[in-house]
Amino acid sequence: MKFFVDTADIAQIKEVVSWGICDGVTTNPSLIAKTGKPLAKVVEEICAVVQGPISVEVTALDFEGMMTEARKLAAIKDNIVVKIPLTKAGIQATKACSDAGIATNVTLCFSAAQALIAAKAGASYISPFIGRLDDCGNEGMQIIEDITAIYRNYDFNTEVLVASVRHPIHVVESARLGADVCTVPFDVLDKLFSHPLTDIGLAKFMKDWEKVPK
Ligand code: E4P
Repeated sequence: MKFFVDTADIAQIKEVVSWGICDGVTTNPSLIAKTGKPLAKVVEEICAVVQGPISVEVTALDFEGMMTEARKLAAIKDNIVVKIPLTKAGIQATKACSDAGIATNVTLCFSAAQALIAAKAGASYISPFIGRLDDCGNEGMQIIEDITAIYRNYDFNTEVLVASVRHPIHVVESARLGADVCTVPFDVLDKLFSHPLTDIGLAKFMKDWEKVPK
C-alpha cells in the first residue's frame, strides 16, 4: 500500500519525505487555506520536493470551469493529479480528463455506488472519506471493503485511495483490505512509528550495552 501525506504544509511534507515513506501528497481547499499562501505558491513548493502524485483540487463547480482548472493544473507538472468532487459535473469532467490523459482523483466519495460511477468515468483514484463517515455513526471501513471487492470484480484500473484518516487503525485496516493508497495526516503518520515496547526494549538494550567492555 502506498502512503500519501494528507497536508499542504511544506514543513510536514519535507519531514515525511525525509523518513523515506512518502509516495505522494493530497491537498484540498481547506488544507491550502490553512497554509495562508496562494495555491500556486503551495503547489510550487510541494512540486519541488515530491516526485510522486500530488493531488490538487479544482474549485469550479461546473463542467467547463472544472476543465479549465484541470488543464491548467495538469500543465504545471507531470505528477499533478486533478482532484474533482463527486458530482455530476465532476464525473463528466473526470471522463473528459481521462479521455485527455489527465490523471484524476475523485474526492468526497461516501458510498460504493459513487465509487462505481467514478471508476466507470475512468478516475485514476477514488477517495472514500472514512473518518467523516465514522463521524456520522457509519462504519467507514465498510465501504473500503465494498469498493475493493467491486473494483476487483471488474478489473477497474481506478486506485482506491483511503481518505479522511483519523488514526492508525484506519491505516492498518486499509492495508488489510488491500486498498492501493492511504492518505494520512502528519500526526497519524507520526503515530504509526510508536509502540511503548519499542521504547522499553531500546532503553534496556542501551543500558546493557553500557556493560559491554569497550
Ligand atoms: C482527502 O484527500 C482529503 O484531503 C482528506 O483526507 C479529508 O480529510 P478530513 O475529513 O480529515 O478533512
